[in-house]
Amino acid sequence: MTSLALLNAFVLFALSTTQVFAQSCPCGYKDSSGHIWREAIVSDFTQSAGALAAVNANWIIATDFEAQPTGTANIQYVTANVFQHQDALGLKASAYDNSGSVKSAEIFTERSDILYGSFRMQAQVPSVPGVVFGFFTYISDTQEQDIEFLSSDVDYYQHVYYTNQPGQLPGGGVDTNAAKSVVVPGADFTRFGVHRFDWLPAATTYSYAGTSDSGATITSSTTITKNVPTTPSEFVLNVWSNGDAGFSKGPPTEDAIATVQFVHLYFNSTSFSAASFNSACSAAGHVAPCNV
Ligand SMILES: *[C@@H]1O[C@H](CO)[C@@H](O)[C@H](O)[C@H]1NC(C)=O
Repeated sequence: MTSLALLNAFVLFALSTTQVFAQSCPCGYKDSSGHIWREAIVSDFTQSAGALAAVNANWIIATDFEAQPTGTANIQYVTANVFQHQDALGLKASAYDNSGSVKSAEIFTERSDILYGSFRMQAQVPSVPGVVFGFFTYISDTQEQDIEFLSSDVDYYQHVYYTNQPGQLPGGGVDTNAAKSVVVPGADFTRFGVHRFDWLPAATTYSYAGTSDSGATITSSTTITKNVPTTPSEFVLNVWSNGDAGFSKGPPTEDAIATVQFVHLYFNSTSFSAASFNSACSAAGHVAPCNV
C-alpha cells in the first residue's frame, strides 16, 4: 500500500466512527447467499471483558416507560434487567410485583441508519410463561421486521413468529402474507441456536439453525415478500410483558430471561456509501471480503 493509499484508508476509517471492522474486513462481509455487506456490528457477549462491555460498545439500554392501554400492566424498561448472565447477556422481564408495570429489558443499536443486511443471534429463549422475546429492526410501526417468541405458547420451545409489519389486515385479522407463525419440528429453542433474518429489498428471509435434544441438526427457513421495510432502521432486542391476554399473556410470576451469546449484524447503511466503501476496499488492495 502506498503511503497516500494508507492515508486515504486511515482518513476513511477516521471519518466514519462506525467503521470498527473496516480495518479487518475493508472489502466487506460475504454471507452464505453471496451477498456483500459493507459494515458489521459484532457483539460477542461471551467475551472476557463481559457482556455489558459488548453492549456498551454499540448499543443503548432502554429506560423508557411505555403505557399499555390494551394490557393489564405497563412496560418499564430498566437498565438492571440487561445484565451479565451465565457467561452471556441476560435480558429479563421481572416477576410481576403488582406495581402497575413490568420491569423489562431492551437494547437497541446506537445507529438507526441500517438499510438491508444479514442479522443473527445465538440465544436461548425464556421458558417462564408470559413474555415476548424480540429480535428485530425498527423505525416505525409500519417499517419493522420481527422475530418474536411467546413464552406462554405450549410449544414455545419450537414456535416462532416472523412478521413484516403491519402483520394485520385493515380489518384486524392476521395478514398471513406478512406474518408467519412457524413451528419447527424437533427444535428446542431453549438450547443455544442461531436465529437469523436476511433483509433484502424484495424479501425478508427468516431462518433458524440449531440442534435437537438428541444432537440432530435442525434448520428452517421462511421468506416473506410483503411489507418489506425500505427505511433505514435501528436494531432491537427485548424481553417484555404487558399482561395482554392475546399476545404476551402474563405478566410473568417468575423472572423470565433470554440468554444471548452473540449478535452479529452485517449490513449496509445510509452513512457509508457504496462509493466510500469501494474507495476503502481499493485502498486496501481489494482484499477478499470476510466470509460470514
Ligand atoms: C450492499 O453493499 C454492497 C457493496 O456496496 C452492494 O454490492 C450490495 O448490492 C448492497 N446490498 C443491498 C441490498 O443494497
